[in-house]
Amino acid sequence: MNYIIRRPWDLPESRHTAIEVYRNRRSHRREFLKSMGLGAAGAAFAPLVTGCSSPTDEEIEAAGQVEPLPTAYQSLYPAERNPEFEYGRDETAKRAAAEYSNFYEFTTGKDVYRYVAGFNKFPETLTVDGLCEKPREFDLDDLLQLFTLEERAYRHRCVETWAMCVPWTGFPLRDLLKEVQPKPGAKFVEFQTFQHPDTVGDSYYDWPYTEGLTIAEADNELSLLATGIFGEPLPKQHGTPVRLVVPWKYGYKSIKSLTRITFTDRQPATFWNTADPREYDFQANVNPDIPHPRWSQATEWMLGTRERFETQIYNGYGEYVAGLYA
Ligand code: MTE
Repeated sequence: MNYIIRRPWDLPESRHTAIEVYRNRRSHRREFLKSMGLGAAGAAFAPLVTGCSSPTDEEIEAAGQVEPLPTAYQSLYPAERNPEFEYGRDETAKRAAAEYSNFYEFTTGKDVYRYVAGFNKFPETLTVDGLCEKPREFDLDDLLQLFTLEERAYRHRCVETWAMCVPWTGFPLRDLLKEVQPKPGAKFVEFQTFQHPDTVGDSYYDWPYTEGLTIAEADNELSLLATGIFGEPLPKQHGTPVRLVVPWKYGYKSIKSLTRITFTDRQPATFWNTADPREYDFQANVNPDIPHPRWSQATEWMLGTRERFETQIYNGYGEYVAGLYA
């Protein structure tokens, strides 16, 4: 992954953004500027782009805002907190999480909120297919009706060493598995994001963004399909309308804005592993003892406060997942 903003923990200049990625980023910026002309929603964000001043909380909130849920579903948020999960450290401020994120379909920078503001083509359905007894297409209504939402306080650890503690709203992936019934031959689950129109024809990466888990990982108690964060439906930059959250793995496994989940008998090719298998392995379990080829993974720093902590094996979730890798 590439850094744009220079910080003491960043990479030396020589390892910065590849030129192809930079070009890609510029094209997204053009798209965003174009979107500014598209009426009031775009105009509201003009200061974010044209001015250099720091955006207000309201501007960041407005940039990520999605259509309100139908009234019937509004009472689902905030969902009841599952007391089993605790951060063991302070919760990250909502703003800190919303203004620093990764969503390569929009930009290789961290200011994703700027680029999602004028974009309204997020997925409307989630297709579940492949080796399962009951393949089907779900829209958000179906998901909200079929599955019980809960709130979980999870730590999140990006492979780039930043971390956050956030309350996700969602339902266990395992509940979806029960619904569609994977066949005995299903050994892996492939996850796919929508194809962003700007990435069509971009041959630098293998779009759309994909990820994968073993069937046992997908069936683990921790694996969550999130529809919300901080007690509200997911804003755009966090991966509206539905994303995966697997907190014992590096953040790149927690794929956003899902459009398809496929059960398969072989390990699927995944976005980062295809881009650079030496740097981004398929399994991607958080491990302080295995350095990334370009930086140490021994410590992590929190969004918002920049407080540093020692990285924990499996991001501290060993009691749930260590058995999967015995
Ligand atoms: N999903 C998609 N579709 N595209 C991405 O670029 N980035 C991943 C993951 N999911 C990414 C994605 C990475 S590297 C991280 S760390 C997390 O999203 C960040 O999630 P957040 O922005 O909600 O904090």
